[in-house]
Amino acid sequence: MRISVAPVPHEFAGCDAGTGIVVVDVFRASTTIVAALAGGAKFVLPVTDVEQAMRLAEPYAENEVLLGGERDCQRIEGFQLGNSPREYTREVVAGKVVIFTTTNGTQALAAAKDSGTTFIGCFVNFSAVADAVAGMDAVTVLCAGNNGRLSLEDFTCAGGLVTRLAKKTTQLDDAAQAARAAYKALQDDLARALVSTEHARRLAGLGFRADLEFALKLDSIPVVPRLHDGRIEPSPA
Ligand code: MLT
Repeated sequence: MRISVAPVPHEFAGCDAGTGIVVVDVFRASTTIVAALAGGAKFVLPVTDVEQAMRLAEPYAENEVLLGGERDCQRIEGFQLGNSPREYTREVVAGKVVIFTTTNGTQALAAAKDSGTTFIGCFVNFSAVADAVAGMDAVTVLCAGNNGRLSLEDFTCAGGLVTRLAKKTTQLDDAAQAARAAYKALQDDLARALVSTEHARRLAGLGFRADLEFALKLDSIPVVPRLHDGRIEPSPA
């Protein structure tokens, strides 16, 4: 196996069709997508801009579709849902199409979409997503980051996946080695380290501290979202 890590989306240069890509946006897009599918959403349509989201919602009846996502971490005007995974409960999302746009997470998904087999990963589905790519010859972890800059929570989660997947013979690129080192340095007190990252502090300041706790609950939602033909659906086990 070969494992590479793209610490930010612009470092992702594409990959072979046989590669497993794991798009990681711990706070909060990946976690929210996992929550939406666990809540029974029909599928999630990730898009990069707000106007496109609104256009895509038009053909659906009002009770079939939900617009979700954020700009500046807040719900977008005219959208029913923000980007808090706690909003995406079964009562709200079951049976609905969720059209979803966020600042970094859905941009990372757009970067990934034309190459490889793309999964969405984070801490809440950590073991399940690791198992989904474990048999592949090559894996790339694509971190969403924060406005083009590295996010420690995404990079550390990537390092956890590298640690979990790497065997003696696995080839790691330099970023995968660095991510693994970051994970090893922080793993004994992971939650404390990750609630102090730049984006975590911003979210806490905006009143979203409970989202951090939700996102850091390891293996709490064993659902593996997969992006295929523009839609995100649960990957068949
Ligand atoms: C994003 O995709 O940029 C994030 O999920 C932002 C957020 O925490 O709302």
